[in-house]
Amino acid sequence: MKEKENFYYPSEEFKKRALINKKDVYAQAAKNPVKFWEKMAKELFWFKKWKKGFVHNPPYFQWFSGGRINITSNIFENNSLGFERIKNKVALIWEPENEEEKEKKLTYYDLFREICRFSNALKKLGVKKGDRVGIYLPMIPEATVAMLACARLGAVHSVVFSAFSPRSLQVRLQDNEAKVLITADGYYRRGQIVDLKKNADQALDQTKVEKLIVVKRAKNKIAWQEGRDVWYEDITKDEEDFCPAEEMDSEDMHFILYTSGSTGKPKGCVHTCGGYAVQAYYTAKWIFDLKEDDIFWSTADLGWITGHTYSCYGPLLCGVSFIMFEGAPDFPVPDRWVRIIEKYGVTTFYTAPTAIRMFEQMGAEKFLNDKRMKTLQILGSVGEPIDEAAWQWYFKEVGREKCPLVDTWWQTETGGILITALPGIGPFKPAFAGLPFPGIKAEILDEQGKPCPPDKQGNLVLLPPFSPSLLRGIYKNDEKYKETYWSRYGDKIYFTSDSAYKDKEGLIRIVGRVDDVIKVAGHRVSTGELEAAINAHQEITECAVIGVADKIKGEVPAAFVVYNGSLLPQDIKDQIIAQIKKEIGPIALPKEVYLVKDLPKTRSGKIMRRILKKLLTGEDLGDLSTLSNPEVVEGIKKIIGSDNSDG
Ligand code: WT7
Repeated sequence: MKEKENFYYPSEEFKKRALINKKDVYAQAAKNPVKFWEKMAKELFWFKKWKKGFVHNPPYFQWFSGGRINITSNIFENNSLGFERIKNKVALIWEPENEEEKEKKLTYYDLFREICRFSNALKKLGVKKGDRVGIYLPMIPEATVAMLACARLGAVHSVVFSAFSPRSLQVRLQDNEAKVLITADGYYRRGQIVDLKKNADQALDQTKVEKLIVVKRAKNKIAWQEGRDVWYEDITKDEEDFCPAEEMDSEDMHFILYTSGSTGKPKGCVHTCGGYAVQAYYTAKWIFDLKEDDIFWSTADLGWITGHTYSCYGPLLCGVSFIMFEGAPDFPVPDRWVRIIEKYGVTTFYTAPTAIRMFEQMGAEKFLNDKRMKTLQILGSVGEPIDEAAWQWYFKEVGREKCPLVDTWWQTETGGILITALPGIGPFKPAFAGLPFPGIKAEILDEQGKPCPPDKQGNLVLLPPFSPSLLRGIYKNDEKYKETYWSRYGDKIYFTSDSAYKDKEGLIRIVGRVDDVIKVAGHRVSTGELEAAINAHQEITECAVIGVADKIKGEVPAAFVVYNGSLLPQDIKDQIIAQIKKEIGPIALPKEVYLVKDLPKTRSGKIMRRILKKLLTGEDLGDLSTLSNPEVVEGIKKIIGSDNSDG
C-alpha cells in the first residue's frame, strides 16, 4: 500500500490482479450512466431483454423496463460463470455458534436443489407470485434457502431480524399481509437458546398468517398449533428437486424490507427484480473484487439490507464461497472472528465500525500477529461513520497495511453500495467513503439546493438516473415515499437524510443523519419509534429520546421521561427498558433514562431535543428565550449531573 498525505493506494501487485484498476471507468460511466448500467446488465441472464434502460416519471422511475429476469436463475443454472463450473463448488459455509458442532458446507448444486424443494413445498401451501412471505429466522442456511425459494417463485420475501420482538414482527406482518411465516424452533446466542417459535406465536395474532413453517434448529420444546404449524423438514423432504424459475418483470416486486424512519411506524422499502439483481451483482463484484477463488465474509445478519445484498445475493451472483456465522464475533472467545477467518481462509471481510471498535477495545492486537489472518486481501466497513482512529486500527492491525479498506456508504433504500472506493483504484482515505460508484451521481447541496464547495457540509442527494436498485416505493404508503425522499429538493432529486461534505478531490465524507434516525451499533432506530414505545406505558406523561455519542456503538439512545410519580424511580426505569424490549427488541435499549419533571418546550409546545442534547454533551446552550419554560433546564442539568456521578 502506498501512502500519500494520509491517503493510501493499492500496491502495484494488488492493482495488477484487480478486476477494475483503471480510473477511467468513472469518466466512461459518467458520460452516459444509463448506457453504463445497460452494459453491466447484459452480463446477467434475462428471459427477455428490456426495451428501455431507464424510464423517469418523477418521482417514479423504472430500470430495464420490459425485461424479464429471475435472480435465482442468475445464481444457479444461468450463473455468469457457467453452472457447470460452479455446480460442485461450495457456495455457503455455515459456522455454528458452538465450535464443537460441525460446520455445514453447501455446494451451489446442493443449495439449488434445496431451494427448489422448498419452492415446490411453498407452492403446495398456496404461495404464488406476488404473495408476501415473512421470514423470521436466525443465521442458519435455511434462511438463505427461504429467501431464494421465494425469489424462485416470485413471492415477495420480507425478512424480519430475529432479535426483533414479537410486537415488531406483528406490525410488519400486518402491514405486508403475509400468508406464510417461516421461523425456527430456537437458536443459540451466547450459549443460550432463544425460543424463537414462542416469539413467532405471539406475533401471529391479528395477522393474515395461515401457515407457520418451522425449521428445526435448537430442538427446544415448543408449542404446536395443529393445522397451522408445519415442520420445514416434513414439507420439503419428498419434494422434487427442480422447480422452474418464475419469469419476473424487471419492475416486479422482489422483496420488502422494513426500516426505521422519522415516525413511530417502520417503512416497508420496496425493491424490484431487475435493478436490484444488476446492482447486487456489480457492486459485489467490483467493490470486493470478487473472483472465483475468493472466500467472502460479510458479518451482517440477513435481517438487514447488508445481509440481503452482501451476505446472500451479491456473493451468490458472483459464484463465490461465502461464510454465514450463527453467533456473535466475540463468543465464546474474544478472537472467535479471527479463528473463523483462519479456519476458512477468508479473503474479504466486511463488517461494521461498532465491531471494529469492539475488537480494538478488547485489545485485539494482543492476539493478532504476523502469522494470523494471512489470507485477508480486502477489508470493508459499513453502516455508520467510521472514525479515523478505528479506520487506522482496522487498516493497520487487521489488514497489516496490505489490504485496501473500502468504507461503503448506502442505505436500506438504495439496496446496494453507492459511495465507496474501488479496491484496485483507491484512494483509501480514513473516515471518507470516497467517490460515488461508477454510474452514480451524488451531490452535496446547501439549504437552497446549490452544490456545496469542498469542505462545506450539506445534504447528500442522488441525481437521476439514481441507481438501478434504489427503492421504488414504501409499501402501501405512497405519501410517505414522496414526502421522505422527493420533497426536500423536488421530485427529481433523491434526499438521503444524510449530511456530508467533499474534499478537494471530490471524496465524500459522511457526517451523519439529519433526521430522527440514530445508528446504534450500525442498527437503524428512530427516536420516534422509541418514544412511541415508552409513551405506551401508562404511568408516563411524555418523553423525548435523543442519540448520544458512544465510544463503541457510535451512538446510543438516551431517554428523558416525565412520569406521574406513582412508582419508585428504579421501577419505572426497569419498566421502560422492558417496554422497549417488548415493542422493539433488545437492539435499541437506552443507555440512560433520566426522570425529569418537565421537558424544554417552545411556546407552541414542541419539545426541544436540541437543548437536551446540548445538556448531555455540555455544549453551550445558546439562547433559551424561545423556550416557554426555560426554568426546567437547570433541573434537568442537575439530574444529568447526579446520574453521571452515580456512575
Ligand atoms: C444509514 C443507512 C448501508 C447498509 C446498512 C445500513 C449510515 C451507512 C455508512 C458509511 C457513514 C453510513 C447513513 C445511512 N451509513 N453506511 N459507510 N459511513 N454512514 O443501512 O440501516 O438503512 O442505514 O446508515 O446514515 O443513511 P440502514
